[in-house]
Amino acid sequence: MNVPRHIAIILDGNGRWAKKKGMPRGYGHIKGCENLEKVCEYARELGVKYLTVYAFSTENWKRSRDEVEGLMKLFRDYLKKCIKISEKWQMKVRVIGEISAFDQDIQDSVRKLEEFSSQFEELHFQLALNYGSRNEIVRGVRNLLVKCQDGEITPEDVTEENFGDYLDTAGLPDPDLLIRTSGELRLSNFLLWQLAYTEFYFTDVHWPDFNREELVKAIEQYNRRDRRYGGIKGEKNV
Ligand code: IPE
Ligand code: IPE
Ligand code: MG
Repeated sequence: MNVPRHIAIILDGNGRWAKKKGMPRGYGHIKGCENLEKVCEYARELGVKYLTVYAFSTENWKRSRDEVEGLMKLFRDYLKKCIKISEKWQMKVRVIGEISAFDQDIQDSVRKLEEFSSQFEELHFQLALNYGSRNEIVRGVRNLLVKCQDGEITPEDVTEENFGDYLDTAGLPDPDLLIRTSGELRLSNFLLWQLAYTEFYFTDVHWPDFNREELVKAIEQYNRRDRRYGGIKGEKNV
C-alpha cells in the first residue's frame, strides 16, 4: 500500500455523533478529541509523515457561548497533554491559524508545545486552531506587502513556488489526501492554496467513530486513484 506522505483531515460530525446518542454536543467534542490522539497514533504507525487536522475554524466562534467555552477548555487540556503525546510518538507539533485570538494561557501552551516538540521528526502534526484559509492568505499577503514596502523584496520576487512560504504551512509539502468525515462535501475554508492537487475522500462516518480501519479504507481508496497534475498519464512528469 502506498501511504500518502501528507494527510489532511477535516474532523467533522462530533455534534451529530453526540446527538444520535442523546448526549450534549460537548460530549461529542470530548470523544472527538480522544479520537484525535488515536488517529495520530495510527497515522504514525502506518507511515504517514505529515498529518494536518482542522479542529477549530475562524467561523466556529459563531457557535453558542457554551459550546465555544467547552472547546476552549478542551484545547487547554489537550495542548498540555500533547506535550507527553508528542514525546511518546516523537511528533513535531505546529499550530496553524491566528493564535493571537485565543486567551494568553492558550497561546503560551501552544508556544511551549511547539518548542518542546520541535526536536521530533517521526510525525509532523499540524493542528489548525482558529484557522481559516482566507485569513491565512490575507495575513501572508500583508507580511509580503510589508517586506515590499521595506524594500526587502520586489513584486517580481513573488512566485507560485515561494508564495507558500508566507502561509502558516511554510516548509510543509502539500497534502496528498484530504479526508472529511460526517458527509459534508465542502472545504469550509480549509487549506485552499495547499489543496490545489490533493485527492479528496469523503465518508459519512462521524469523527468520533473514525478508527484505524476507516483510515486504512481512505488510504486504500487513495491508492486506486489515478493521480495527475494536468498532464497525460504515461508521459513525462505524470
Ligand atoms: C467538528 O464537529 C468539530 C468542530 C467544528 C469544532 P462539529 O461540531 O462540526 O459537529 P457537527 O458537524 O455539528 O455534527
Ligand atoms: C469545519 O467544520 C471546521 C472544522 C472541522 C474545525 P464545520 O462543521 O464548522 O463546517 P461547516 O459549518 O459545516 O461548513
Ligand atoms: Mg460540523
